[in-house]
Amino acid sequence: MALPDAVPHLRHGPVVLRAFEERDADLVVSAASDDLIPWITTVPTSGSRRDAVEYIARQHSRLQSGAGYPFAIANSETDEAVGQIGLWLRDIDEARATMGYWIGLGYRRRGYLTAALGALTDWALQLDEVERLQLFVEPCNEGSWRAAERCGYQREGLLRSWQQVGSLRKDMYVYSVVSGASSQGRRPAGSRSGRRSTSTRPGPGSGVRVSGTDLHRA
Ligand SMILES: CC(C)(COP(=O)(O)OP(=O)(O)OC[C@H]1O[C@@H](n2cnc3c(N)ncnc32)[C@H](O)[C@@H]1OP(=O)(O)O)[C@@H](O)C(=O)NCCC(=O)NCCS
Repeated sequence: MALPDAVPHLRHGPVVLRAFEERDADLVVSAASDDLIPWITTVPTSGSRRDAVEYIARQHSRLQSGAGYPFAIANSETDEAVGQIGLWLRDIDEARATMGYWIGLGYRRRGYLTAALGALTDWALQLDEVERLQLFVEPCNEGSWRAAERCGYQREGLLRSWQQVGSLRKDMYVYSVVSGASSQGRRPAGSRSGRRSTSTRPGPGSGVRVSGTDLHRA
């Protein structure tokens, strides 16, 4: 599957991934008050609606400029936006793409990131141009790396002083999943190890449904 020229609609379990719309501005406004999100994203710190609408416009321009695919993560029943996830293509000439994401303060620990990351990972690994997906996580950000591991990403190591976050240099774990990794032991995205088998929360993975005419290119 070739890189599409529009943001696709990916539906799985509790989430749908779709393009941002102006009606999602309240979520962006609320993210301004998070301790971390404005430091690692371009979410505006002002908390003003106008800046939030501009942020949404910037998401659309990222697709047009080839920077990558920005998605709103929405509740699949209500279509209410609960977070953001992006597939970024800066290193696509090397067949690498990078994931980045956040979930709004009022929506955490409900499995939204795990579902969204699993759905986007499954989709991205079908792209002809992508051989490796990677993400970078602070060691203290347990919610982020637990979701990554749930979705089949493997921790490759600790990158020391990797990234400026606010006024500090931060170490980051680097995680990846690679194309064809099933032969190297990758579990289907979002699948659970026996260790956690008592959970009943729906996981992403095999049931991702895609819509959007641009995706039917081989
Ligand atoms: C990190 C973040 C995206 C997690 O989103 P989420 O929707 O709450 O994650 P999930 O509900 O899918 O949880 C994933 C796993 O992490 C665990 N988890 C979530 N938050 C956690 C926390 N604060 N501490 C410890 N574990 C946590 C969940 O219990 C779940 O574990 P399990 O799969 O073993 O049951 C969210 O906290 C966030 O947006 N933080 C600020 C921005 C950010 O950190 N972005 C990522 C930068 S790498």
